[in-house]
Amino acid sequence: MSLTSKRGDPLCGTVSVPGDKSCSHRALIFGAMAAGETQISGLLESEDVLATARAVAAFGATVERTGPGEWRVVGGPWQSPAGPVDCGNSGTAVRLLMGAVAGMDGVTATFTGDESLSKRPMRRVTGLLERMGAKIEGGDTLPITIHGTRLGGIDHRNVPASAQVKSALLLAGLESGAAVRITEPVPSRDHSEIMLSRFGCPVSVDDTEAGWVTTLGEHRALSGCKIAVGSDPSSAAFPLVAAAIVAGSDVTATGVLVNPLRTGVYETLERMGAEMELSNERLQSGEIVADIRVRASALRPCHVTAEQVPAMIDEIPILAVACAYAEGESVIEGLAELRVKESDRLGAVVAGLTACGVAALADGDALRIFGRGSVRGGANVTTHGDHRIAMAFLTLGLASEQPVSVDEPEMIATSFPGYVELMQGLGADIA
Ligand code: S3P
Repeated sequence: MSLTSKRGDPLCGTVSVPGDKSCSHRALIFGAMAAGETQISGLLESEDVLATARAVAAFGATVERTGPGEWRVVGGPWQSPAGPVDCGNSGTAVRLLMGAVAGMDGVTATFTGDESLSKRPMRRVTGLLERMGAKIEGGDTLPITIHGTRLGGIDHRNVPASAQVKSALLLAGLESGAAVRITEPVPSRDHSEIMLSRFGCPVSVDDTEAGWVTTLGEHRALSGCKIAVGSDPSSAAFPLVAAAIVAGSDVTATGVLVNPLRTGVYETLERMGAEMELSNERLQSGEIVADIRVRASALRPCHVTAEQVPAMIDEIPILAVACAYAEGESVIEGLAELRVKESDRLGAVVAGLTACGVAALADGDALRIFGRGSVRGGANVTTHGDHRIAMAFLTLGLASEQPVSVDEPEMIATSFPGYVELMQGLGADIA
């Protein structure tokens, strides 16, 4: 199957994008580790998150869908699941769950995943868990078996900044009284810190000379709570960049999570000259959410430094599309991690842009894009089964001279169920 996008009328309207993927995984996992009931609203019901829901049910939690995006989780002590825990395409699911299980004395689980996840590096988590005393079979790539045990503490310098690694260590520390401290010269997303505090385990974050120091608090028993998940800024970036590049467009996404460690792409778009307004900022379950409005405008090229990348790590493919429509050379530095995401995203972006007539190259860890203000398109883009590569190039095709097709569009359900219908509702020609 393939999907094709074509240039057409301006995109106009107000949309509510599905819930944030990072927060959705965490709400399910923390809820399953907590005593009592957790009520989640706005949960992202995508393939990745449903894999986490099935996983925590296999560990013994009660997990029920009570309405659209509304879920009830009753947690408690975990049991060894009857069979392997299949985390599908989700790096966040497997890395956080491995951390959680490592600290649970007597619980054993084998983790598996799809073809893409089975190639992704896991040593960054398993190596640190072993340093805390974890018993692990395998450890480089899936399948991996974790035998939960009483762990010691860890003092880790998290470079390159990875929220999955940081979260795995925090979860591994929950069952022990040992000190868990993570220092990050450049901070990664802090949803675990914010959400663990809501579950009754305060996590402190201090700005020191060595960087941001995250310390797991003394009180580690989690209690169920209510979590309302904001819309995913990584998903909202697709309709909002489309609005920026399709002439005459005016699109608003409501209730988007605007945690400052996630909004790098929006700050960059503003620097590029995008017409953007933030309104209705409010606190929701400890996170900031807001409505974001974008109107079409001419874009300037950008220069993104390695330090700025963690706050937009998942948005590089869609930012690259914006750069293709900006006249001049854009440079995005520090993209080594992109090689080990759901696909080699640096390679896939360069290949896709080149196929669409945009000059682009990977220069070491940097991406250079030579935008000309208009894009030819007219290509079948290979997505390598990567949901964000698929949506990025469908966005490119909404403003290019010739249509753009992408393969494996079914992978979009990994993070953004209803993407095609939502875009069609704004007037996009995607079929
Ligand atoms: C995530 C962290 C990031 C991000 C991923 C989700 C998370 O990965 O790319 O999509 O929920 O913690 P890294 O921790 O590997 O940077």
